[in-house]
Amino acid sequence: MMAEVSPLRFITLEGGEGTGKSTLQHALAERLRAEGFDVVTTREPGGTPLAEAVRELALHPPAGADWSPMSEALLMNAARSDHLEKLIRPALAEGKWVICDRFADSTRVYQSVKGGVSSNVLKSMESTVLGDTVPTLTLVLDAPLETTSGRRSARNGPDDAFEKRATDFHHAVRQGFISLSQEEPLRCKLIDASRDVASVYAAAWRIVSQTYALNEMAG
Ligand code: TMP
Repeated sequence: MMAEVSPLRFITLEGGEGTGKSTLQHALAERLRAEGFDVVTTREPGGTPLAEAVRELALHPPAGADWSPMSEALLMNAARSDHLEKLIRPALAEGKWVICDRFADSTRVYQSVKGGVSSNVLKSMESTVLGDTVPTLTLVLDAPLETTSGRRSARNGPDDAFEKRATDFHHAVRQGFISLSQEEPLRCKLIDASRDVASVYAAAWRIVSQTYALNEMAG
C-alpha cells in the first residue's frame, strides 16, 4: 500500500506594502497554535541572520546607491536560499507549519515590473533555489493603493528603498500580484484586504482550513 503523502504545511503571504500581511500572519499563527500545532513565523527577505543582513543591504543601500533589478533578484534569492536551508526546510521536516511573510512570488513581481528582469530568468532562478520546497498555499492580499498608502504612512520610520518608489511602481506591483493569482489559481488565493482586519482573517482562515482539511468550526 502506498503511504499517503501529506502536503507541506507551508503558507506564504503576499501582496503590496500595507496590505496587512504581518497582522494576518500573527492571527493565523495564533489560531493554528490554539489548534495544537507548532508554527514557525518568518519573513523575507530575512528569517536567518545572514538573510536579515541581506535584507538590510537590499532595503537600505548606502546613500546614493541603487540596486539594479537583476542584482536585487540575486540578493533576494541568496537570502532565500539561506532561509530555506537553515530555517524553512528543517521546520517543515519536523512537521511544523511555516507561515512566511513574503516569499518567491515577491521576487517574481517586484523584480520583474517596470523594466525588471524577465519572467523566464526569474522562474529559472526560483526553481533552482526552491527545488521541491514550494508553498502549498499562498494568500495574496489585495487592496487599492489609496487604502495601503494610508496604512504605510501611519507606520514609524523612514521609507525603505521600495517604499520610496513612485506610485506607478506600486500600481504595477498590485497588478502583478493579481495576475499571479490568475496564473496559479490552485496555489494562490486573492483576498480582498481593503476590509476590516476581522473580515480578512475570517476569509483567510476559511481558505486555510479548507486547504488543509482542518475543522473550520473548531478552536
Ligand atoms: P516588507 O517585508 O516590509 O514588506 O518589505 C520588504 C520589501 O522588499 C518590500 O518592498 C518588497 C521587497 N521584496 C522584493 O522586492 N523582492 C522579494 O523577493 C522580497 C521577499 C521582498
